[in-house]
Amino acid sequence: MNITVIGSGYVGLVSGTCFAEMGNKVTCVDIDPIKIEKLNNGVLPIFEPGLEQMVLKNVKNKNLFFTTALLEALADSEIAFIAVGTPMGADGSADLQYVLAVAKSIGQFMQKRLVVVDKSTVPIGTADKVKATIQKELDIRKSNLKFNVVSNPEFLKEGAAISDFMKPDRIVVGSDSNFSIELMKQLYHPFCMSRDRFISMDIRSAEMTKYAANAMLATKISFMNEIANICEKVGADANQVRIGIGSDQRIGYSFIYPGAGYGGSCFPKDVKALTKIAKEHGYEAQLITAVEEVNDAQKLVIAQKIVKRFGEDLTGCTFGIWGLAFKPGTDDMREAPAIYVIKELVSRGAKIKAYDPKAVNEAKEHYLKGVQNITYADSKYDVLKDSDALVLLTEWKEFRSPDFEELKNQLKKSIIFDGRNQYSTFNLEENGFEYYQIGKQ
Ligand SMILES: NC(=O)c1ccc[n+]([C@@H]2O[C@H](COP(=O)([O-])OP(=O)(O)OC[C@H]3O[C@@H](n4cnc5c(N)ncnc54)[C@H](O)[C@@H]3O)[C@@H](O)[C@H]2O)c1
Repeated sequence: MNITVIGSGYVGLVSGTCFAEMGNKVTCVDIDPIKIEKLNNGVLPIFEPGLEQMVLKNVKNKNLFFTTALLEALADSEIAFIAVGTPMGADGSADLQYVLAVAKSIGQFMQKRLVVVDKSTVPIGTADKVKATIQKELDIRKSNLKFNVVSNPEFLKEGAAISDFMKPDRIVVGSDSNFSIELMKQLYHPFCMSRDRFISMDIRSAEMTKYAANAMLATKISFMNEIANICEKVGADANQVRIGIGSDQRIGYSFIYPGAGYGGSCFPKDVKALTKIAKEHGYEAQLITAVEEVNDAQKLVIAQKIVKRFGEDLTGCTFGIWGLAFKPGTDDMREAPAIYVIKELVSRGAKIKAYDPKAVNEAKEHYLKGVQNITYADSKYDVLKDSDALVLLTEWKEFRSPDFEELKNQLKKSIIFDGRNQYSTFNLEENGFEYYQIGKQ
């Protein structure tokens, strides 16, 4: 099939590349000419394991193209995916300006019958707005071209995006037309070879499914973080409690690790947007509001432990940070707990030396740009020298089995604050470290 994917970020680039991998001819469009130039020169604008090789291979095979010219891309396409950002607006609701700008351009440029797919995470009712926007442009052109709008929310996880896309748990498609459903089934058939993963439903239910999924996962995280905070108060160990409750199949082990709170480009904005959507329809989403409040507070728990140990005024203290990305396997720092922890420590006078395997440039250029008193290191051990303590904030594999002798030799004091959603299996107290975790006194 001939496909256009509009928006070549984490979702658009991965989706487009995976469709190309299955033999489709895919054109990825982006409004950002620098991004497109880089992609045309074989340079990826994001880090995602396995993506670079797959992009280069499909470009070479002439299955995958990059352009800023939507008109040309749409000329041959049967399907156009909208995969642009839907960031949090000033009032907490999803900002639809990019989605609707794309819809307008589609209406202006489409040349043949088209199925337009909302892949971005969008509030319930957005497909209707996309449809109306395209129709308005067609009316201006006095065109009677046919089109359908379907909802196909994306569930990939950054850091495992390729495998999630190639072997999805489910493919949710919301549509009011058999023609679109059949076309989408055909497109996704190669991703469902071992069993049927295609779930079709009405458009609004598909739009809601994405928010419900993210809200459920965020709820598990905030629930466990709240349990961890209570564990600390009552002298229980949240990690043992985690194992105790996870063994119940109805609860399960996934998403119940206590940690520094959820971040990333999806959970924070989608949880917020869902409460907003509910409110607009006259419903107070109390549980989901609480999930967000617990998470906001959780991002600062590690900083509070540091303050408790070193005092309110951190002038003269230096902290070595391991991990800036919001989770391992990505360079994405959107809403990463590290941003909040570092800003809090710096505001109290501390100096920071930070290391991350992939996200240092993101920190320097965007998320910690202009924040004083931060230096960055190329190796994890380089942040330790003259640091009063090590603070772990992302679960990168290379932090799992560090050289503890090196840590002891380099750090001024053998103190570790561990804010990862995972516990070290080392008995650090016995090895002479002061070791502070979330969920344990
Ligand atoms: N990142 C994830 O893990 C993930 C997972 C599932 C769903 N989503 C959803 O997918 C959507 C995209 O997220 P993302 O993380 O890929 O965003 P992103 O910011 O990485 O990428 C969006 C891209 O769209 C481009 N763009 C903006 N306006 C455009 C226009 N008019 N024409 C062409 N390109 C345009 C931007 O330049 C950018 O490259 C969001 O709604 C998000 O909630 C994201």
